[in-house]
Amino acid sequence: PHVAVIVVAAGSGTRLAAGAPKAFVGIDEHSILRHALERVFAGPLAQVIVVAPEDRVGDALTEARAVAGARHELIDVVAGGRTRQESVAAGLRVVWPAVEYVLVHDAARALTPPVVFTRVVAALESGHDAALPVVPMVDTVKRVDAVRVIAALDRSELAAAQTPQGFRRAVLDAAYAAAAADHTDDAALVQAAGHEVATVAGDALAFKITTSADLDRARALLAVPRA
Ligand code: C5P
Repeated sequence: PHVAVIVVAAGSGTRLAAGAPKAFVGIDEHSILRHALERVFAGPLAQVIVVAPEDRVGDALTEARAVAGARHELIDVVAGGRTRQESVAAGLRVVWPAVEYVLVHDAARALTPPVVFTRVVAALESGHDAALPVVPMVDTVKRVDAVRVIAALDRSELAAAQTPQGFRRAVLDAAYAAAAADHTDDAALVQAAGHEVATVAGDALAFKITTSADLDRARALLAVPRA
């Protein structure tokens, strides 16, 4: 395939406090990672690279093989790093030579619909260097310091960034090779390297499972029969 999806799943899940690395916490009978991978495999055909905690590489491979079935040759699993950026870098090192477009996806956005992957790849195929799924802000956002509001921001100019974030492979490789500071996401890193980032429509279901309330929401969504 000419697409690779790096699924970063090496976070500790401290804020979720579920007693296991976040990607291995169950939503229903299946883990966060398993749900994320099911949706990745339902999207555009791609090399799928799972970045797992060092002591969970074997577990991640088992999960990925269960989802991939006959397509198991598409899977690679590598150990992550201390930060998300280091984990993405570890994934990037094993992208196959023929791959043109790399998508980076948070396993924690486990319910992201496959159509979001399709939109991101379509934006790259139409010539964009980078593509970011976004959703409108629901809350009004303020710039604050420890005790007071510094400025009100115009909500119409703001959007919430999701994953999968997609890039021309050469652009992402170069941005990672040049990256010094830790950026919160890959689009920020690529923008800092001087590239324009196109937006595509994200999806409410691509929310990131961070707290136990988010996990409850994911559980509730999966419990409702889908049409
Ligand atoms: O912590 P947070 O939920 O923002 O992490 C976003 C994604 O990055 C998660 O899927 C998490 O597993 C991954 N991550 C990682 N390596 C780290 C930290 C986070 O792969 N060192």
